[in-house]
Amino acid sequence: AGGTGRAGDMTGRHVVVSAGGTREPIDPVRFLGNRSSGRQGYALAATAAARGARVTLVAANTSLPDPAGVTVVPVGTALQLREAVLKAAADADAVVMAAAVADFRPARYAEGKIKKRNGEEPAPIALVRNPDVLAELSADRPRPGQLVVGFAAETDQVLANGRAKLARKGCDLLVVNEVGADKTFGSTDNEAIVLAADGTEVPVSHGPKEKLADTVWDLVVQRWSLPPA
Ligand code: CTP
Ligand code: CA
Repeated sequence: AGGTGRAGDMTGRHVVVSAGGTREPIDPVRFLGNRSSGRQGYALAATAAARGARVTLVAANTSLPDPAGVTVVPVGTALQLREAVLKAAADADAVVMAAAVADFRPARYAEGKIKKRNGEEPAPIALVRNPDVLAELSADRPRPGQLVVGFAAETDQVLANGRAKLARKGCDLLVVNEVGADKTFGSTDNEAIVLAADGTEVPVSHGPKEKLADTVWDLVVQRWSLPPA
């Protein structure tokens, strides 16, 4: 958790963290999902609580123990996550979107289990777009001066894609994780780079998720201009 010099530096603040991965139901027994475990979001929640913040953790389909002193709000779908995040964000000093939110959901939910039919090919599953919670929060801050942080995983042209995504989303910070074989960060063992809207770039070398979490909160604490809620 919080290292030397960080103890209590988030006292009086309320932060909202989303974690895990949404599941979009197809029928009563099936869903479209992703492989996000929620560990990075849980590390962000635990470190913020250790540094004195009040923390609301909106957890999508995780199976991790509740971090000490954190209010956990379980959700399933992207639409449920949006409702829970926007509600908690009303009085928040910062919102960190670490969750993997499904970009699409099935256009129709089958009330009964979809069955095979003799010799017939399956019907395609039509998809519709989910709302972009990060872009929405960034454009329409529920609290003026509230800081908004996004996460992105990129496989190539990490910096260029990350910069473009930061601008497109309109958030204050974007944590870009380098994934896949094409290592373009230049430096040796960077695992992530935090891009700020003010042009700052902070590389974070490979290490525990708590280390990346503390770096994110350091950058948030430095940028808070509003008084605690
Ligand atoms: N995000 C969100 N709502 C969505 C999709 C994504 O709030 N419907 C947030 C994620 O929580 C993350 C950030 O947006 O913090 C970036 O997600 P990512 O999937 O990298 O961005 P996309 O704009 O969906 O781009 P891509 O087409 O690369 O998936
Ligand atoms: Ca996406």
